[in-house]
Amino acid sequence: MSETIVIFGASGDLTSRKLIPALFQLFMKGRLPKGARVIGVSRSPYSHDRWREMLCETTREFTGDQFNAIAWGEFAKQIYYQPGDITDADSFRALADLLSKIEPGPDSGRVYYLSTMPQLYAEAIQQLGAAGLADDRRGYRRVIIEKPFGTDLPSAKRLNESIHEVFREDQIYRIDHYLGKETVQNIFALRFANSIFEPIWNRQFVDHVQITVAEEVVVGRRGGYYDESGILRDMFQNHLLQLMMITAMEPPARYDASLVRDEKVKVLHCVRRMAGGDFASQTMRGQYEGYLEEEGVPKGSQTATFAALKLYCDNWRWKDVPFYLRSGKGMSCRTTQIVIQFKQVPHILFGDKTREPLGNRLVIQVQPAEGIQLHFETKVPDSEMKTRTSTLDFSFQKISGVADLPDAYQRLLLDSFNGDASLFARSDEVELAWGIIDPIIAAWDSPAAPDLHRYVTGQWGPEEISAWMLDQGREWFDVCPVIQ
Ligand code: BG6
Repeated sequence: MSETIVIFGASGDLTSRKLIPALFQLFMKGRLPKGARVIGVSRSPYSHDRWREMLCETTREFTGDQFNAIAWGEFAKQIYYQPGDITDADSFRALADLLSKIEPGPDSGRVYYLSTMPQLYAEAIQQLGAAGLADDRRGYRRVIIEKPFGTDLPSAKRLNESIHEVFREDQIYRIDHYLGKETVQNIFALRFANSIFEPIWNRQFVDHVQITVAEEVVVGRRGGYYDESGILRDMFQNHLLQLMMITAMEPPARYDASLVRDEKVKVLHCVRRMAGGDFASQTMRGQYEGYLEEEGVPKGSQTATFAALKLYCDNWRWKDVPFYLRSGKGMSCRTTQIVIQFKQVPHILFGDKTREPLGNRLVIQVQPAEGIQLHFETKVPDSEMKTRTSTLDFSFQKISGVADLPDAYQRLLLDSFNGDASLFARSDEVELAWGIIDPIIAAWDSPAAPDLHRYVTGQWGPEEISAWMLDQGREWFDVCPVIQ
């Protein structure tokens, strides 16, 4: 089959930093469908050649050593540019003309990638429908929608309704790039391709789960966007809840888009909704010092750049096991990790009086030191019966021999061509996730909001967060990964 990807928002950062480099790398690996065309659409008045030249420079920059000029020359022949305005029906007619010229026949498949400002998603979809570009009687028509998908539950519902007027749910691919990360997909493998973890992956053995997405970077030039969004919309409604779903879900009957997503959605149904005093006792928020001086941030802003939530998943597997989710900007290092903290042994036989073993811990390092570690107690050699914590260590880099795992967008783009939506969010998933996050945002915006703790950058968030955890008899796993 012949295929085309049309990228709306072609002059944006995502296109040059992620999408084109990912498509080019797939092309170099021979995994991009043969002859696949790329059309960029945005308002800037570039010619095909000018856009190709610009992309050549940015792709060289973002693919580094992997850039191959000869391969680029071949790939660039399949790249086209169409100036156009999303609010203008003529632009879509011009796009339809270009498509009819460059596609070999009406049965070509198409992926439309919406990488524009989110306010334009609904309009772009309506225009695609009105121009007859969503008609899939001859070739498939799919639409990829970048995050954010809405800013709360009502806006996400409106957007879903508007998209469903033009595209069926099975044609819609909502991006959460965390699902495209190899290490996130490896959680499926860890849990469902091994028999040793399943029997202990539950409330009988697990004390709690920590899911951390720490970023060293601060908000920087994204202050305007970020202040409206804040950490809960920017990271929790999507990435953190996705990681929680995959960690907590039941095994699906088959690895199939609808069955996988059914199981993920069940986790969201189980998440205990907060009420009353829960917002003060189960949520913590912080803002790094210096945030108020960032460009675009209004004076006295109360926007949180750090959050920690204690969530429960009320089902047979997880009842009363806390899932601690935390994320922040300006933290001590960049690390995304999931810690499964197992319970302490029921009766301690060994150890000195100064140290009580913590219980086993499985650490899933999502990035940047992709791997898995199992922490367990071993005897200190040449001692009495003293123990210490040792680690079994698995590293993706070591086994694959490649320095960098493929970027998430490669996998996601390929899946959209292949019609596999397993790693994309479904409409009910997105709405349920907003249903969990919206009440917390509302509580934080209310006069009874919990304190906004200040923290200095380069640490693990506000000091109060550690105290909060210690009060619960637990400790954060505050360890920066070692990159080998
Ligand atoms: C984006 C957020 O979705 O994810 C950013 O908008 C954040 O604020 C980014 O920095 C983190 O992604 P990654 O892949 O670098 O962990």
